[in-house]
Amino acid sequence: MASYETLLLERRGRVALITINRPQKMNALNIQTRAEGAAALEELREDEEVRVVVITGAGEKAFIAGADIAEFEGRTAITQRDVMTGRSLFTAVDGFPKPVIAMINGYCLGGGCELALSCDLRIASETAKFGQPEINLGIIPGGGGTQRLTRLVGEGKAMELILTGDIVDAKTAHSLGLVNMVVPAADLEGKTMEIANRIAEKSPVALRMAKEAVKLASRSTLDEGLRREIDLFALCFSSEDKDEGVRAFLEKRKPEFKGR
Ligand code: COA
Repeated sequence: MASYETLLLERRGRVALITINRPQKMNALNIQTRAEGAAALEELREDEEVRVVVITGAGEKAFIAGADIAEFEGRTAITQRDVMTGRSLFTAVDGFPKPVIAMINGYCLGGGCELALSCDLRIASETAKFGQPEINLGIIPGGGGTQRLTRLVGEGKAMELILTGDIVDAKTAHSLGLVNMVVPAADLEGKTMEIANRIAEKSPVALRMAKEAVKLASRSTLDEGLRREIDLFALCFSSEDKDEGVRAFLEKRKPEFKGR
């Protein structure tokens, strides 16, 4: 297992927990954190024991308060473009073949919100706060915020958040559909791990196909999406997991999925 300076990587059975660990800087994403996050995902991608990944931020205050603004000073457009288009953490999460859950424990702003948006599920503490405040710096979201937020909550609300830079509380984020659920801060880890473990019991093959199929809905025409859904559905029939799932149902027992 590789060691990282800006994040903690822990395996808890079938669930891996990535904790962005720069609490003194509100877990802001600097170049090193982005690179280490992508490297950690690469490590977890290969690890057959790991079936679900949870991403969170260290400390009580922040999930991730955005890109590291200190790095913006003096940076050229070309360098910034390279940072965003290189080995992107957002793209790595989005295309990760296993479910990724954002466990949002505090400020979830800018690139932090964009990272959460790249995840498959967002579970927030009542104390979490959300926003795309880039406009206040004279820039716009560049980690997918204008696209993923808009697809998730609709153009009207996304436009409002992005143009005003306003920060909203967890209850509002939930009512917008920005987060899947909101729980008391003390229950955040327990609830997230419960859901992660429940998903980790499913067939890794089917989870992968399901993630890919659902993501197609906002990236293809309906006809293309429906066609691809059938292909991915049919592909499940080539797995041992499908045989096991069907047999377990007929034998009235719990399935043991192996990811094959
Ligand atoms: N980049 C770099 N450093 C950041 C940061 C970021 N995105 N967010 C917070 N920090 C640093 C602060 O500079 C401060 O560092 P210091 O102690 O060395 O001065 C430390 O984290 C604590 O933050 P502070 O602002 O003192 O805490 P707060 O509780 O008063 O406010 C926030 C919290 C999140 C509201 C505020 O830090 C903030 O607005 N951050 C920037 C959010 C943002 O614009 N994100 C989008 C970036 S594109």
